[in-house]
Amino acid sequence: MGAAAGYIMEALKSASWIRKMFEEGIRLKGQYGEDNVYDFSLGNPDVPPPPEVGRALAAFAETTSKPMSIGYMPNAGYSSLREALARKLASEQKVSLAGKDIIVTCGAAGGLNAFFKAVLDPGDEVIAPSPYFVEYATYVSNHNGVFKSAPTKPGTYELDLEAIEAALTEKTRVVLINTPNNPTGQIYSEDQIKQLGELLGSRKPGGRPIFLCSDEPYRFLAFDGAVVPPVLSHYEFSVVANSFSKSLSLAGERVGFLALNPDMEDQAGLMAGLILANRCLGYVNAPSIGQRIVEQALGAQADVSIYDRRRKAMAEVLDAAGINYPTPKGAFYFFPDAPGGDDVEFCRALQEERILAVPGRGFGCSGAFRLAFCVEEKVIRNSAESFVKATARFK
Ligand SMILES: Cc1ncc(COP(=O)(O)O)c(C=O)c1O
Repeated sequence: MGAAAGYIMEALKSASWIRKMFEEGIRLKGQYGEDNVYDFSLGNPDVPPPPEVGRALAAFAETTSKPMSIGYMPNAGYSSLREALARKLASEQKVSLAGKDIIVTCGAAGGLNAFFKAVLDPGDEVIAPSPYFVEYATYVSNHNGVFKSAPTKPGTYELDLEAIEAALTEKTRVVLINTPNNPTGQIYSEDQIKQLGELLGSRKPGGRPIFLCSDEPYRFLAFDGAVVPPVLSHYEFSVVANSFSKSLSLAGERVGFLALNPDMEDQAGLMAGLILANRCLGYVNAPSIGQRIVEQALGAQADVSIYDRRRKAMAEVLDAAGINYPTPKGAFYFFPDAPGGDDVEFCRALQEERILAVPGRGFGCSGAFRLAFCVEEKVIRNSAESFVKATARFK
């Protein structure tokens, strides 16, 4: 018998692709040197936080002589931050929001866990379009839910509403979308979101509404003037999860939030459930220092132009190797087709050329692979020859 519970053992298996690549990266870097390994395996935002973050931290240090400056707080977070977030979100989501509609959470991950804890009964189903962020399945099973996926449109990875409709059952409780998407970089159109809202609004399995949860930590990172459409204005039972892990490069400080549609039936009941879940899951509240930083730096963001230059560099490298991909509209990932068709085999060939990528099957989608371009531009450019060599094996 293993030391860990069965469902954790299962989760370890499915998360193992990213972990395997991470470990392989350490081994290869030890053997060939840091500069000779091209590691595109991890989505860890490396662009420095904007200067407002450092300034907020310094200003915060001046306040620590006051009692309770780093003390417990209401479980939903500082009310001044909730109000500031409501003002920002109102313009993004095209609904009128107040502080009471927002709960500050330990990142988007903590927010999604609190949400599933609050809404799932044992056996309830959560559907996510595939490919999907691999941790979703674990977040759902943490709270006795059943994770299911529905394919997106082949080639473009746009939402496939018929596939989602076909996956709905009497047990469906949540449809979970992620836009801009990890791993595809797709941004779902406003029309698709509106139609998804209409589809879900037409169903009430077992007399209960189906929630639409939109996970949006890459909302700030949209390229070529693309706009990430609102979700809250399109469906009554909608919830947005977001965080500052990427937008302020603050991933280690664990600050995110959930915003609830203000017009949702029994919205106050759901908010009370979320506040209790935040507490009883052991998060208690999102970190106080992080919340103070976020409040001061709310109008700022990491430099999107750096990511855009890297996106262009990566596109040039893939073009030169003859690898096909849908151009990412947002986030910091490419999800190209694996030459030869087998994602694991192609990632192995890449690895032999000292490139680390993650096979698509790790995201519930075989035949493609993920490249995270949150690495310096020179790493991307220096990898060009290795991509050509790995691809040549499949011609
Ligand atoms: C799609 C998606 N959702 C959620 C998360 C979790 O982010 P956070 O640091 O906000 O918990 C990530 C992190 O990479 C992500 O890519």
